[in-house]
Amino acid sequence: MERIKLAIEKARSNAQPGVRATVRGRAGAGAAAPAQELGELNYVQTKVVPLSADHLERNRIVAYNKNSNMSWAFDLLRTQVLKAMEENGWRTLAITSPTAEAGKSVLAINLAMSIAHYTTKTALLVDFDLRRPKIGSYLGLPMERSLNDLLGGDAELQEVLVNPALPRFVVLPTKAPISHSTELLSSPRVASLIDDLRERYESRIVIFDLPPLLSSDDTIAVLPKIDCVLLVVANGMSSRKEIEDCLHHLPASNLIGTVLNKAESESHGYYP
Ligand SMILES: Nc1ncnc2c1ncn2[C@@H]1O[C@H](COP(=O)(O)OP(=O)(O)O)[C@@H](O)[C@H]1O
Ligand SMILES: [Mg+2]
Repeated sequence: MERIKLAIEKARSNAQPGVRATVRGRAGAGAAAPAQELGELNYVQTKVVPLSADHLERNRIVAYNKNSNMSWAFDLLRTQVLKAMEENGWRTLAITSPTAEAGKSVLAINLAMSIAHYTTKTALLVDFDLRRPKIGSYLGLPMERSLNDLLGGDAELQEVLVNPALPRFVVLPTKAPISHSTELLSSPRVASLIDDLRERYESRIVIFDLPPLLSSDDTIAVLPKIDCVLLVVANGMSSRKEIEDCLHHLPASNLIGTVLNKAESESHGYYP
């Protein structure tokens, strides 16, 4: 099988450790109006859950620490993604890949944390990979309540949202795989959940961690309801044909960019 290496990657000069991104932007578009400073939100209703730095690092979650010298890759991606989203009035972002194990969930968490550190935005991360949900376990969340309860009609939205002890960061985890996921993701109930999450706060960016595009119809079913999509391609894991098939499914109009993940690391220091 023909393997892709750097075929889709243009922004080499913006290279990040293991993560390189090409994010579209409108040439000549003016800077967005400064957003209102939010400061630290008070999570009166949202359950606050502490995180373990060891557990996060074991799972490659590095962006929880604003000052980490490993989070710059995600900060750069965040800046590019937020710019494109603001220029287009987008507030919901889907993350998918051609096939499994591209690093979507890890990237989704790091990107959401990096957005949360950006003081004018809150980030809400939703685990919509209903076949292989990983967000809660990567973060080490207890998940007494989750999307499973919400979609099963056993809990209200406020009961299933979690604030993992990071300002302006809210997570909607999925505890266990859900059967009939394609039907569910195409349902009016999920459409109204997405609308609700999108409309409640104007300064909120909602990130949906989705399943791989080519392994089921789940992603195709839900993508029309989400403003824009970021495609994660793991270095050497997808054939050219798989990437072309993905691009065929993704409308060019809202493909915000591509990320080459698990790339060979290069030296980025000032000194050689
Ligand atoms: N940049 C990276 N470099 C090396 N390994 C990575 C990277 N990102 C993720 N991984 C690892 O790849 C595996 C799959 O990651 P995951 O985010 O669960 O993929 P997906 O959600 O696309 O199935 C995990 O073991 C994760 O730790
Ligand atoms: Mg995943």
